Amino acid sequence: MKDIMIATSNPNKVREYREMLEKLGYRIHDLSEIEHEDPEENGKTFAENALIKARSVWNHTGMMAIADDSGLSIDHLKGQPGIHSARYLAGHDYTYKNKMILKRLKNAEDRGARFTCAIALIDELGEHVFEGVMEGHISREIRGTNGFGYDPIFIPEGYEQTSAELTPDQKNTISHRGQATRKLLAYLNGEEQ
Ligand code: IMP
Repeated sequence: MKDIMIATSNPNKVREYREMLEKLGYRIHDLSEIEHEDPEENGKTFAENALIKARSVWNHTGMMAIADDSGLSIDHLKGQPGIHSARYLAGHDYTYKNKMILKRLKNAEDRGARFTCAIALIDELGEHVFEGVMEGHISREIRGTNGFGYDPIFIPEGYEQTSAELTPDQKNTISHRGQATRKLLAYLNGEEQ
């Protein structure tokens, strides 16, 4: 059985990776098992930040490591919040953050936006990044209660609902995270990418 360390202190992420990877015969570990300081996420892209987190664990433990980074990039805001999505308007809840974004886009014609997810994996063969992008646009109002974060203001391309109005299965089929995860699983299954 192979060991994988998930480089996150978010228990929900650990649970999701455990559910996916244990089926493939991996033993899942998380940061609570080791003494580890979070590295500074000073990369310029989602992929760089995911790699920074995965490298830190790989260098520390020598164990196969997985880390991810994701966020929402809005064209009218020159790509913000982007890699700063989690820290954007820190101290406020997402109802407030989403309201502020709608306010900033009040008169904007260009409402284009995309969610990106980069999953970095380091194993004995080297560094790998699996990326998924969900294109779409920012809605005119907050809608839906599923999902989390910026889902209530994001309308995926080809849909009329926000991603918070989609069922978890519907979102997973098209989402940035769903796409990146499927690429990761294909790699771990030894399939061609
Ligand atoms: P991180 O990947 O844990 O660094 O966090 C990324 C941040 O991007 C989250 O805290 C959310 O604000 C945002 N985000 C990433 N993926 C999604 C999503 O699927 N829906 C809504 N917000 C998301």
